[in-house]
Amino acid sequence: MSGVVADSEVLDLLVVGSGVAGLSAAVRAARTLGLRTGVLSKAELDQATTRWAQGGVAAALSGDPEEIDLHLADTLAAGAGLCDVDAVRVLVDEGPTRVEDLIAMGAQFDHDSEGRLELAREGGHSVARVLHAGGAATGLEIERALVEAVRSTAAVLHERAFALDLLVEDGRCRGVRALDATGASFEARARHTVLATGGAGQLFAVTTNPPVATGDGVAMAIAAGVAVADLEFFQFHPTALAHQSMPRPLLSEALRGHGALLRDSSGERFVDELLPRDVVSRAITSVLLDQRVDHVWLDATGLDHFATRFPTIAADLARVGLDPATEWLPVAPAAHHQCGGIVTDLNGATTLPGLWACGETSCTGVHGANRLASNSLLEGMVFGARVVEAIAAGSDGPDPTGAMRAALAAGEEDLVIGGRRLHVGPLPWGRDARISRPEVAAQRERLQRTMTTMAGVLRSAESLGAAIDVVESIAARLPDQSDDPRTCELVNLVRVGHVLLAAGLARTESRGSHTRTDFPDLSEDFRCRLVLGG
Ligand code: SIN
Repeated sequence: MSGVVADSEVLDLLVVGSGVAGLSAAVRAARTLGLRTGVLSKAELDQATTRWAQGGVAAALSGDPEEIDLHLADTLAAGAGLCDVDAVRVLVDEGPTRVEDLIAMGAQFDHDSEGRLELAREGGHSVARVLHAGGAATGLEIERALVEAVRSTAAVLHERAFALDLLVEDGRCRGVRALDATGASFEARARHTVLATGGAGQLFAVTTNPPVATGDGVAMAIAAGVAVADLEFFQFHPTALAHQSMPRPLLSEALRGHGALLRDSSGERFVDELLPRDVVSRAITSVLLDQRVDHVWLDATGLDHFATRFPTIAADLARVGLDPATEWLPVAPAAHHQCGGIVTDLNGATTLPGLWACGETSCTGVHGANRLASNSLLEGMVFGARVVEAIAAGSDGPDPTGAMRAALAAGEEDLVIGGRRLHVGPLPWGRDARISRPEVAAQRERLQRTMTTMAGVLRSAESLGAAIDVVESIAARLPDQSDDPRTCELVNLVRVGHVLLAAGLARTESRGSHTRTDFPDLSEDFRCRLVLGG
C-alpha cells in the first residue's frame, strides 16, 4: 500500500526497516500496545540482513543472576572499554524474556536429544549460551516468525519502498519522504519514526552482508544532523568462506565453538579459535600478510554430523564443491557488523525528537569497540521492544542515559565514557551531476574496493587519508539527492563511509575492531566516543 499519505492517515509509529529490531518494535507496537503501526522496507519484508544471520542468540536463559553477570562481563571484555555498562545490563537482563517472547510467537530453536534448548559456545563467550535455529539459520527463523506476526498486525506495509530522507518540521521528525515501488515519491507520516535499517556492510568489497545493507538510516541521520558515533568500529568476521560469491558465505563461529580449528598455510594452528573475533581477525590478517596468502584454513574435519547440525553451511559448501568432512575450508575475514550508528539513550531515543533507532542502525553502547558474537539479534529484540514501551509510556527523549550521555555532554570530562566531537568537512557533491546506472555500479565497486583495502582489518593514517580522497572524488560525481534508489544507496554509502574514515583517522589508537598499524596500542585518551552531529 503506498501513495501520498493524507494527514488523517498519520501513523502512531512508522518503522523503517524490516530486520529483527524493526519488526520486534512493530509487532510489540501493533499487537501488544495497539498502536497504529506502519513498516517501510526497501525490499520484501523478509529480505532484511537478519535472514542472513547464521548464529545465534546469546542469552542467559536460566535466569541465574551469576550467569547473567557472566554474559555482562563477556560483553564488556569483547567491547574493549567502550561498552556502556547500563546498556549492556539492560541487554543481558531483558534478553531472556525477549527470547521467550519470540518462542511464544512461534520461533523454533534447536533442541538437544533430551528436548532441552541446545546451547553453543562462540568466540568471546566463557560458557555455552548461544541458541541456534536450523543449525545456522537462526536469522531466517526469527525473521519468519516476526514477518508472519507483522503481516497480521501492522496497519500499513510499504514494501519495496525506498526512504529518501527524514521529514523534519519544527525541530521534530514527522516521518520520511520515500519512493514507492513504481518510483513515485510519497510522504509516510507518523508521530514517531523508528530507524531500523541495519548496517552498511556494502561499504566493503568483501562482506557477509547482503546488497541491501547500504547504511540508509545512518546516512539519513547524518544528513539531518542527528548524532552518530562509533562508526570507526566495523567488525570483521574472521571466518568467511574465501570464495568469489558476494555476500561471502559465513562459516559460523558455531563451527569453532564445536571444535573446528584454524590452520595457517603450513597446517599449524596460530590462535585460540575462541577469542573475541577482533583478535581472531587480526591474527588471521597477520598470517595472510606474513605468508603472502589470501586465506587460511578452517579445519572442521573433526566435527560429527556436520550436514545435519549445520545444514545451511553444508549446502553453501556443497554449492562450491567443498566437503567439510574431508577437506579444510579456505577462510578470510569479511566486513560483518557495524558496531556504531545513530546514538540513542537506553530507550532508543535519538537527538532528534520523534526519531528513534534500534538494531545495527543504532549506537546504544552495547557493543563498544567490538561486538560479542551473537549479541546483535538479542540487541534488536531488546531495544526494539524498549522503543515502543517508551513511546507508549509517553517518553519523548532523549534522556542522558546509555550512549546518549556521550552525545549530550560531548566534551565534558566527568563521564565514565566521554564524548568527543568529531569534525567532518562537507562532501563536494556534484549537486546537478547526472550519473548513469552503469557508472553508479562502477563507483559503488570502486568505493567497496577502496574500503576493503584501505579501511579493513588494518588501517593507517596513510591508507585512511587515501580512502577519503577516493570517497570525495566519488561524491563529486554524484548528485546528493536523486529519485533513483541505486544512486541513493551510493550516496548513503558515501556519507557513512566518509564519517567512518574520518573517525578512523581521528582515533589514533588501536581498540577493538579498529586497528591502526601506525598506532598499535590502546590509548586511555581515546576511552571516548567520537560523536558527529546532535
Ligand atoms: C556467526 O554465526 O558466526 C555469526 C554470528 C554473529 O555475527 O553474531
